[in-house]
Amino acid sequence: MQLISIADSFLNGAKPNVMKNNLQKVGGLLFFEPSTRTRIGFEVAAWKLGIKTVFLEKTKPSKSTDWVETISDTIKTMNAFVDYYFIRHPSNEIFNEIVPHTALPVINCGNGYDEHPTQAIIDAYAIYKKFNTLDDLTITFIGDVRYSRAAHSLILLLRNFNNIKINIISPAKLGLQNDYLKRLSSNIEVRKITKLELGKEDILYSSGFAPINPSGTFSQEIIKKYAVTLDDVKKLNSNCIIMNPLPRIDEIDLDVDDTKNAYYFRQNELSLYARMAIIDLFCRQ
Ligand code: CP
Repeated sequence: MQLISIADSFLNGAKPNVMKNNLQKVGGLLFFEPSTRTRIGFEVAAWKLGIKTVFLEKTKPSKSTDWVETISDTIKTMNAFVDYYFIRHPSNEIFNEIVPHTALPVINCGNGYDEHPTQAIIDAYAIYKKFNTLDDLTITFIGDVRYSRAAHSLILLLRNFNNIKINIISPAKLGLQNDYLKRLSSNIEVRKITKLELGKEDILYSSGFAPINPSGTFSQEIIKKYAVTLDDVKKLNSNCIIMNPLPRIDEIDLDVDDTKNAYYFRQNELSLYARMAIIDLFCRQ
């Protein structure tokens, strides 16, 4: 809730009072996977707080091979140049390799298929701005939940709130896996449902669906079954919001954008203030 209150203060135009202390600070954005929102969003949020940023996309290959330096060597090197890290990496385990080599704050901007905690904070802030609470909510995830790091982190974040009901609409192979289910508290109810049961949720969270993922290859026909269409929106209650971490590929039909339930671009607008709050709270030194 502290993050929400800091984000709100920035949304309401508060001048960042940390700016003076940040003038000599440098944030290192290490993005080993493409990113539009998280990379640009954190870079702009940092600038607004007076923090300069540097960006690293890939480390230099050696002359005769495509080997790159180890992540631990990259971190030991960057430790001399930056004051905080914002890191995205395709490996689920990457932070086990990074954290032992730095004493600086490290913000996870997405690790493999595992987690995307800053997206979860953004999502929680966007939900709060709509409902003025994070308790007593029913959220239906639709699509590939198994490999959606944004869905994992939001579900885990919601453990901290009361009377949360989670529904999942996904193919059998792409539901929430046991290792995440085990981490949920007993006050969170998780149910598998179908599109026929839409209508009782406060939030419809579209988590995307890649045609190829580690569970196999899925046809466009199957993927289409888990896309959000105008017919699905007609079943939703009028106050229900449709969320998506973006980028949208084909998991939400374009004509859904014009409905009053579509909330994903508002979710993205609010993300700037949530990211400023994350930096303000976690990067104070
Ligand atoms: N939501 C999100 O993580 O988007 P990017 O991949 O563009 O950062």
